[in-house]
Amino acid sequence: MKHEVRCLRLDDKGRGIVKINEKITFIPNLLPNEEAIVKIITNKKKYAEGKLLKLINESNDRVKPKCPYENCGCHLKHLNYQKQLEYKQNKVKDILKKFGNINAKINNIVYDNSINHYRNKITLKVNKKVGYFSNNTNDFIPIDRCELVSEKVNDLIEILNEEDLSKVNEITIKDFNQLMIMINGEMDITNIKKYVDIIYINDKLIKGEKYIQTTLKGLTFNISKDSFFQINKYMTEKLYDIALNYLEQDKNKIVLDLYCGTGTISLLLSEYFKKVIGIEINKEAVKCAKINKKINNVNNVEFICGDAGEEIKKLKADKIIVDPPRNGLTKEGIKDILKINPEVLVYISCDPITLARDLKLLNENYNIEEITPVEMFPNTYHIENVVKLTKKTLHF
Ligand SMILES: C[S@@+](CC[C@H](N)C(=O)[O-])C[C@H]1O[C@@H](n2cnc3c(N)ncnc32)[C@H](O)[C@@H]1O
Repeated sequence: MKHEVRCLRLDDKGRGIVKINEKITFIPNLLPNEEAIVKIITNKKKYAEGKLLKLINESNDRVKPKCPYENCGCHLKHLNYQKQLEYKQNKVKDILKKFGNINAKINNIVYDNSINHYRNKITLKVNKKVGYFSNNTNDFIPIDRCELVSEKVNDLIEILNEEDLSKVNEITIKDFNQLMIMINGEMDITNIKKYVDIIYINDKLIKGEKYIQTTLKGLTFNISKDSFFQINKYMTEKLYDIALNYLEQDKNKIVLDLYCGTGTISLLLSEYFKKVIGIEINKEAVKCAKINKKINNVNNVEFICGDAGEEIKKLKADKIIVDPPRNGLTKEGIKDILKINPEVLVYISCDPITLARDLKLLNENYNIEEITPVEMFPNTYHIENVVKLTKKTLHF
């Protein structure tokens, strides 16, 4: 059945919110104040999800995206960029209030105007051609290009689509000074060999060096195929600058860098602190971190491979920086941080909801000095935040 609706606002996943028979219904690709014909796809007890069939009137904030594909990872590509930034600024404020009762100072979102071609990594599903699974339906959508990656990667996508991919399930491409491709399945690599520097097939290195390299703020970083690395090539240095500034340099202090990945933050901090200890669970990432320490001639950083929640119990530090995955910190982890009692705690988060939950607990002992949203993921609903917390002083 079709319904005529008017969009009230966007939800935290960038979908338009409408009411159908008083039930909240989420419609992807619909913008505030737009009127449209929609249909319901899933009807749950408390809410429904629908599909936009036809726009009756268009918002002035709507833009025609370069990308022709629907329901891919770019949930907001049809919204003009200034409005995307406004949406994210408000979203951070609303979520922190709703899930953490946090009213702290939120700075203006930090961004770059490179809203396309910013990703240094893409994972593609394969079904004869490369593509993705549609957000709503899980249907496979083949693609010829993606606006978020470089033209170099788009040329590779074109080459791949000419090949017989019938025995391939998934392909991941990393794009730094060189191109690395990781193929899950089997294919003839004669043609892509000429174009790609590093090739893995089913985790086996077939061509090139084991690691791909990049530079950040004058340091060189080796990255292995499975190690995490910040995906926005234009924004990573800006993100780290904010975090380094929040930590307040001090040559007499020891810093703990929890969830340190390939050691980027630890090594960038080394110049400004007495010692830095990085903790990371991914063995390959720690291997990279140790190589990165060596190639950058850094002596005052130690990397420990292990669960941050376990390793922290054995350590002491003056300051702590955490950059956990989307699910944030554990209650136990927060208790352990409080036991160490750092004078400054910097929290980098890629999920405002888990951040709000964690800040609520930390706020009992720590002041939330300021929060800076950083636009690491243009055209999507995702937003990164950096938070500075300082120890509350007791007044007698
Ligand atoms: C968001 S990334 C941050 C990496 C790094 N700070 C950077 O900027 O590149 C989170 C990292 O936490 C690591 N990780 C996940 N669970 C962990 C755990 N329980 N203990 C330690 N590290 C963990 C992941 O492997 C990943 O490298």
